[in-house]
Amino acid sequence: MNKTILILALATAVAAGSACSGGGNGSKVGSDAAIEKRIDRILSGMTLTEKIGQMNQVSVGGSDEMMADAIRNGSVGSILNEVDPLKINEMQRIAVEESRLGIPLIVGRDVIHGFKTVFPIPLGIAATFDPGLAEEGARIAALEATACGVRWTFSPMLDIARDPRWGRIAEGSGEDPYLNSRMAVAMVRGYQGHTLDNTSMAACMKHFAGYGAAEGGRDYNSTNIPERLLRNIYLPAFKAAVDAGVMTVMTSFNDNDGIPSTGNSHILKDILRDEWGFDGFVVTDWNSMGEMISHGFAADRKEAAMVAANEGVDMDMMTFGFISHLEELVKEGKVKESVIDNAVRNILRVKILLGLFEQPYVDADAAEAACYTTAALEAARKTAEESVILLKNDGVLPLTGVRKVLVTGPLADAPHDQLGTWAFDGEKGRTVTPLAALRESGLDVVYVPGLAFSRDKSIDFSAVKAAARGVDAILAFVGEEAILSGEAHSLSDINLIGSQSELLKALRETGKPVVATVMAGRPLTVERDLGNVDALLYAFHPGTMGGPALARIILGEAEPGGRTPVTFLRTVGQVPMYYNHNMTGRPYNGETLLEGIGLEAGQTSLGNTSYYLDSGAQPLFPFGYGLTYTTFEYGNVVLDKDVYDADGVIEVSYDITNTGERKGTAVVQVYVRDLVGSIARPVKELKHFERVHLAAGEKKTMTARIPVSELAFWGRDMTFNVEPGEFTMWVGGNSASGIPVGFRVR
Ligand code: NOJ
Repeated sequence: MNKTILILALATAVAAGSACSGGGNGSKVGSDAAIEKRIDRILSGMTLTEKIGQMNQVSVGGSDEMMADAIRNGSVGSILNEVDPLKINEMQRIAVEESRLGIPLIVGRDVIHGFKTVFPIPLGIAATFDPGLAEEGARIAALEATACGVRWTFSPMLDIARDPRWGRIAEGSGEDPYLNSRMAVAMVRGYQGHTLDNTSMAACMKHFAGYGAAEGGRDYNSTNIPERLLRNIYLPAFKAAVDAGVMTVMTSFNDNDGIPSTGNSHILKDILRDEWGFDGFVVTDWNSMGEMISHGFAADRKEAAMVAANEGVDMDMMTFGFISHLEELVKEGKVKESVIDNAVRNILRVKILLGLFEQPYVDADAAEAACYTTAALEAARKTAEESVILLKNDGVLPLTGVRKVLVTGPLADAPHDQLGTWAFDGEKGRTVTPLAALRESGLDVVYVPGLAFSRDKSIDFSAVKAAARGVDAILAFVGEEAILSGEAHSLSDINLIGSQSELLKALRETGKPVVATVMAGRPLTVERDLGNVDALLYAFHPGTMGGPALARIILGEAEPGGRTPVTFLRTVGQVPMYYNHNMTGRPYNGETLLEGIGLEAGQTSLGNTSYYLDSGAQPLFPFGYGLTYTTFEYGNVVLDKDVYDADGVIEVSYDITNTGERKGTAVVQVYVRDLVGSIARPVKELKHFERVHLAAGEKKTMTARIPVSELAFWGRDMTFNVEPGEFTMWVGGNSASGIPVGFRVR
């Protein structure tokens, strides 16, 4: 087919199918018969080489000329890491006007918690327990990124993390499958929009699968997740994202039980395609195809390419395995051409649905104005406010009647670190730090950093102490630099790093009230610091507007709205400790810790239950925990029935009263325990949450509806069912409290 005929064919195909049709034929990503026909027509005009070109994703960073040539000759289907709209337009022009087929590129980027306007890190977003805000943040990220021509983000990361040593805990929604699922759906909707248009950015759920269970919390390490645990804990958020229409999936680096994900058709085909009906495309992680050689799972790049293609990968990110070897492998009969066709079909489907054929270009002049809008900055501030968790308050917060403060600590004015990991495009010049915001607030601010950066080991705090003399209160900002969390940045010691604990101790010695804020990429073990502060706020890395959010919280113009999205440990030796652990044969019964036991000679037994002699069985703060500037009381928890059918809906009503003197927001959480199952079941599982706003003294009666199907799990026979029997439900303010009620499922 010559080029003119081909363009005509494509134009007809374009006219035949609307890129924004959505729904139809049970397609998860929204394809329909017209789109599938259009794909057939494009495919029928493609050579094998051109098909393989679509399966190749290349990062910018090399020579522009070589990239242009590669696009022109059809050997690139996607590029990543270009964000300049002019350059993206030029690459699209070459693809559309100079390549034989004129198929547009899909341009990808890690837009993880905002593009230009940076929101709190995903773990902070999860702490909001507010999927509405998560969706809004993702939508804003999409508006900013798509204005520059980026139409694909490698987010959301849906890896369950039960180990705070793992640096990538920062990038996910923590330890709970239900919270992860709710956030997954919200983010997919936000990125892609409810209707696909040119502000839609294809979402990419990652890392499929099990990556967060890296042994020892060391990034890239092996995982050993049995199938049932995988399905009950690690996969639900991925399934929820597929049901929400996520368009792409990234394979993970890890091997699980010996099989690297990039070569695992059980997850990529049996589960993802056959069970879940996913019809978007699968991309590898960066060189994860090539890394199957390092895993000792493939002998060379050619074998790695063969394995990846046959096991279910559609696009190769940066191994160059497909582009170098697939054609040969097809000719040798080792990969069927139908496998290639199928992969290209999946890729084209996404490109068509995104409307890239109709609108490959962006208006580069409009890009700047689309970023850092007032609405975006407001949303980032509000999200940061809702993400901040109040962990301790001896009555000093909110600060009132305070005129002069000492601002100190390495994170008080660290615009880059405050953005956190994966904030490639956020500019530190646009970041408002706590120091800047507090100065703006009209307080008389004395600033002495005390430590230059979080790892600083200096111990001379004389200047800080001297500065504290004339102030009414001390505001210390401690935590971790951005590079201490995120990919490849795991730690084996998760206490405050450097001399920060010593700094807090020195501040305590001044006798002035100390309010500490931790900005970090993970839940640090802060037990030893609690005694040195009057109040402790945990802000994770709060993003561009973290400063104003924190200043408003400290001064009482906003409330700390977050709850722990992950268990906060007393000591790293407690890892893994998570709230939804299975019921054990010898549950902890409150036995004494070592420090409370006498040292009688010959003592042979100290305890008989599941706990650590030195650190017990409880974390420092349980999952779902967070104080507010007021207090709430729960009561009158009533179920609408005693017995439910498996297809029924549980209606639980409860009273909640704001018993304090300020308005406030409760994060009501509903947990369930299945008392007897075909397998040992978790002690509690979150099944519902909602934010309830209450004026001072106000009481509300609320009703939560929980489908009984939410109680289903993969049981002993590896089927997914609600098992009949007795259950306990708790309604309360965190995973370690709540009012219990019982019910039965028949
Ligand atoms: C490697 C990371 O694991 C992944 O999350 C990211 O999206 C890719 N690199 C692309 O930058």
